[in-house]
Amino acid sequence: MKVLVINGPNINLLGTREPSVYGNTTLGDLHDMVQQEARRLGIEVIFFQSNHEGEIIERIHAAASERLTGMIVNPAAFTHTSVAIRDALLSVGIPFIEIHLSPIAARESFRQVNLFSDIACGTITGLGPLGYVLGLHALKGLYGNTSE
Ligand code: DQA
Repeated sequence: MKVLVINGPNINLLGTREPSVYGNTTLGDLHDMVQQEARRLGIEVIFFQSNHEGEIIERIHAAASERLTGMIVNPAAFTHTSVAIRDALLSVGIPFIEIHLSPIAARESFRQVNLFSDIACGTITGLGPLGYVLGLHALKGLYGNTSE
C-alpha cells in the first residue's frame, strides 16, 4: 500500500498557529506520528504540503501515475473555496479520506461550506493529528486487500 498525505495552506505553521484551535503538535511531529503508524501497518507514505492552490492541483495530477492506494487530504482553507482542487481529485479518481484537525462543524459559518466531504470516502474532523493516523487505518480497512 502507498498513501499520499496532502496538507494545504498554513498547515506548515502547526504548533505555533492558533494553538488553542490546532494544538501544539508541529507538522514534523505529525509526519513522525503518521510515519510510525504507517510502518506498523506496512504502508509506504509520502508527504506533501503547499500554501499554493496550483501546486496542490499539480501534485494531485502527478499522483495519477504513482499507483497509490489512496490519499489523506486536509485541504485546509481551500476546503471552503476550491472548486479547482475538488475537480483535480475527481479527475484522478484516487480514493481519499478528508481530514480536519479542528471540529469545523462547530466553527464559523463560512467553514460550513465544504467542497470535499461529498466526494471523500470519509471525513474525520476535530481529532487533531490522530485523525491522520485513523485515516491510514481507514484506507487499510477499505483497500488493504485489493492493492499491492
Ligand atoms: C482545517 C480547517 C479549515 O477551516 C482551516 O482553514 C484550516 C485547517 C483543519 O484542519 O481544521 O486551515 O482544515
